[in-house]
Amino acid sequence: MRSVHVTGKRLGLREVSAVDVDALHAVYGDPAATQHLPFDPRTRAEVVDIVDEAVAAAQADPRRLYVLAVTETEGHVIGVARLHIEADHPHSAEIGLGLRPDLWGRGIGTDLFRLVLTFGFKELGLHRLWGARSPANTAAQLAMLVAGMVEEGRIRHHVSTPDGWRDSIVHSALSDEWPADRAL
Ligand SMILES: CC(C)(COP(=O)(O)OP(=O)(O)OC[C@H]1O[C@@H](n2cnc3c(N)ncnc32)[C@H](O)[C@@H]1OP(=O)(O)O)[C@@H](O)C(=O)NCCC(=O)NCCS
Repeated sequence: MRSVHVTGKRLGLREVSAVDVDALHAVYGDPAATQHLPFDPRTRAEVVDIVDEAVAAAQADPRRLYVLAVTETEGHVIGVARLHIEADHPHSAEIGLGLRPDLWGRGIGTDLFRLVLTFGFKELGLHRLWGARSPANTAAQLAMLVAGMVEEGRIRHHVSTPDGWRDSIVHSALSDEWPADRAL
C-alpha cells in the first residue's frame, strides 16, 4: 500500500489511524458539522468503525477509498477528507470533507478543497473530482466555488436523510481545467 502523506502550505493530509478517533469524533460527532450531511451526529463507537473501515480500505488493491486526516502546521488533526473512486468510472472520484466547527470561516475549507483536488489530480492521476452538497449548505457552496469547482446542477432526492429525501447540488473540477503548476 502507498501511504498518503501530503504537505500543503498550511494544511496536510495523512492516513487516518486509531489515534485519530477523538479528533474525527470532534467533527463527525458535532451537530453543527452534520447539519447539512445525510446522517445524524456519529457516536464515538461509530467513529471507531469509520476509522477501522478506512484502515481496511487503504489495503485494497486497487484502492478506491481514501479517508485522510487533515492536519494543521503543528500536526494536530482538525478535520477529515474523503475521496472515493467510482468502481465503474475509475477516472472519477467523489470528494467530501469536514472541519472542526470552531475553525470555520477562516478560509481553511477553501484551502482544503484545493488541496484535495490537487492531490486527486496530481498524485492519483484522476480526471474528474466532484462533491455533492445540501442545497442549504452555503459554506460548502462558497468553499467549492472559490476553490475553482463548477456548479453542475441538482440531483433530486439524491440521499436519504433522517429527515427524509434530500436533493444534492453537484460541483466538479476536471484535470484539464486545473492549473498544472498548482503546488500542493
Ligand atoms: C464546508 C466547510 C468545510 C467550509 O469550511 P470553512 O473553513 O468554514 O470554509 P471557508 O472559511 O473557506 O469559507 C468558505 C466561504 O463560506 C463562507 N461561510 C463559512 N461559513 C458560512 C456559513 N455558515 N454560512 C454562510 N457562509 C459561510 C465564508 O465566509 C467563505 O466565503 P468567502 O470566501 O466569501 O469569505 C465547513 O463548513 C464544514 O466542515 N462543514 C461541515 C461538513 C460539510 O458540510 N462538508 C461539505 C460537504 S460537501
